[in-house]
Amino acid sequence: MIPQEFGWVKVAKTADMREGEGYDTCQEVAGEIVSLFLIEGVYHAVSECSHEKGPICQGHRTGFEVSCPWHSARFDISTGACLQGPVACRTDGSVCVGEMEEVDTLAPLTCYEVKVEGEDIFVRPKAHADAAK
Ligand code: FES
Repeated sequence: MIPQEFGWVKVAKTADMREGEGYDTCQEVAGEIVSLFLIEGVYHAVSECSHEKGPICQGHRTGFEVSCPWHSARFDISTGACLQGPVACRTDGSVCVGEMEEVDTLAPLTCYEVKVEGEDIFVRPKAHADAAK
């Protein structure tokens, strides 16, 4: 049996996606919840935030840059690279700057390969796909 992380996992349907928006698949692949983005007709999939698992799919996005809605860390969706570490801590809906140690950078997001078959969207971690070659 092929371990899940080496195989494709169905995470969404094309009808779930809107151009330019993020989508929370609520699907765990290789231990992390997958966020999907549709940018200029191409699907991109990354893990939840590497800081405290914030929902990256709900962050503000410009091009391939997305900011985490919880503490504003910024990431490149195409590579997973952290562009800026967290800068604020939210408590009860308010933003409290300075209650959390600010760091310049974080671990990158996990990036996933994406394929579409019919109306179904599948992902698998890029690193694991490379290892399976
Ligand atoms: S959870 Fe994303 S920056 Fe803190």
